[in-house]
Amino acid sequence: MQNLNIVVLAAGQGKRMYSDLPKVLHKIGNKTLLEHVIQTAQRLCPTRVVIVYGHGGEQVKSHINNIFADNEFVWAYQEQQLGTGHALKCALPHLTPNGATLVLYGDVPLIDIESLTEMLMKYDGSNIVMLTAMFDNPFGYGRIIRNNESQIIGIVEERDTSQGEKFIKEVNTGFYILPNGRLTDWVNNLSNDNSQGEYYITDLIAMAYNEGIDIDYIEAKHHHTTMGVNNKLQLEYLERMFQESCAKILLNSGITLIDKKRIDIRGEVNAGRDCVIDINCIFEGRVVLGNRVKIGAGSILKNVIVDDDTEIKPYSIIEDAQINKSCVIGPFSRIRPQTVINQQAHVGNFVEIKNSVIGCGSKVNHLTYIGDADIGNAVNIGAGSVTCNYDGKNKHKTIIGDNVFVGSGTMLVAPVNLGEGGVIGAGSTITKNTEPHELSVARAKQITVFGWLKRRR
Ligand code: UD1
Ligand code: CA
Repeated sequence: MQNLNIVVLAAGQGKRMYSDLPKVLHKIGNKTLLEHVIQTAQRLCPTRVVIVYGHGGEQVKSHINNIFADNEFVWAYQEQQLGTGHALKCALPHLTPNGATLVLYGDVPLIDIESLTEMLMKYDGSNIVMLTAMFDNPFGYGRIIRNNESQIIGIVEERDTSQGEKFIKEVNTGFYILPNGRLTDWVNNLSNDNSQGEYYITDLIAMAYNEGIDIDYIEAKHHHTTMGVNNKLQLEYLERMFQESCAKILLNSGITLIDKKRIDIRGEVNAGRDCVIDINCIFEGRVVLGNRVKIGAGSILKNVIVDDDTEIKPYSIIEDAQINKSCVIGPFSRIRPQTVINQQAHVGNFVEIKNSVIGCGSKVNHLTYIGDADIGNAVNIGAGSVTCNYDGKNKHKTIIGDNVFVGSGTMLVAPVNLGEGGVIGAGSTITKNTEPHELSVARAKQITVFGWLKRRR
């Protein structure tokens, strides 16, 4: 459509959220409400997007400009929040004189592209197209008023409804397509003579009807797509709706989820064939799973690549890392940023790894800290070993050659280099480089003090 203007109303404070954060910056699926709306808006390829902002102004603006760095939005400042009609007025100077304006509410995050497209198809150049919904519990929403010929003739806000009107279940979702040619006149004629003393955008409908403009509508098919967030209860409800729809997308793409209600997607998940995700996992950022990957219960993955046939056992936390083929990680592993685990490696319980490479087939199975280390292939790190990488000021590197065997309880004081094929005796504190293919031991010799117990008595 030519000259499609989109106006996103996002200036409100959201008093009912009881929060210092502007309402539209609250999140669903770790993405702000406003981000959800803008992303949907962009898919319609509009001529321009005008965002009406006000409460928490700079915070809203810088958040959006950070995320959509390459996009140009027109920002219309609404200094005082005098109502949705007044908000639209603030956007007027930025609209194209002809064409149409699609109004979106910044606090209705899950609006779907299908409904909006259907609305655009119903727009004929001079009518108004509204998106309505039937709610069993319409409380709080503006009600659609129809005449005897069942034409829409206006909207009444909850607080202005008469007793009879309260029973109307057809509600205004807050999405409208309006012809730009008439907008200025209509908006300038709005009054704030109502229970809230606000300029209501919803009053445009009766105004247009009285001028003989056709008021057309599309009825939303899925309730959650038109529900607004005005309080934390609604935020939580929509979060669950959003999560369920993410889970369905994963299931439809062939991933096995043990329970579609017990998974949280706070980013993007791509997976190959025959992956299985157990309950209560959280995925953040960009997560890519290869084929036949298993993710155990309660695991959290953020910006992670996991290659084919790898199993992540329960309660593992992995961030900014790459786990290559056929590895076994966890249970209870913590893998921190800049870590690469190569093929067939095993990382076990209560092991923390940071900024390190673990070579093919190497094992770090129990109670160990590996930081800033480069570990070769087929290395065995015994239980309770630690790379002492930090001297209080700087971080230092530990390099371990292929086939090294590090006995349990070893302290590797970095910078240090363990020559390939060497063996480190358990309980050593290694402060110097070790020879390849030799045994290195650095611990106090064990002695027996004969007669000591007897003397003490
Ligand atoms: C509004 C509608 C109501 C509809 C409901 C759907 C009006 C008068 N009422 O009610 O018919 O059923 O949405 O969710 O429009 N905003 C501004 N500036 C303002 C006031 C609001 O930008 O001065 C923005 C808010 O940030 C929000 C949106 O407009 O994104 C809606 O405002 P809100 O106060 O939440 O309206 P509702 O009472 O929900
Ligand atoms: Ca609202």
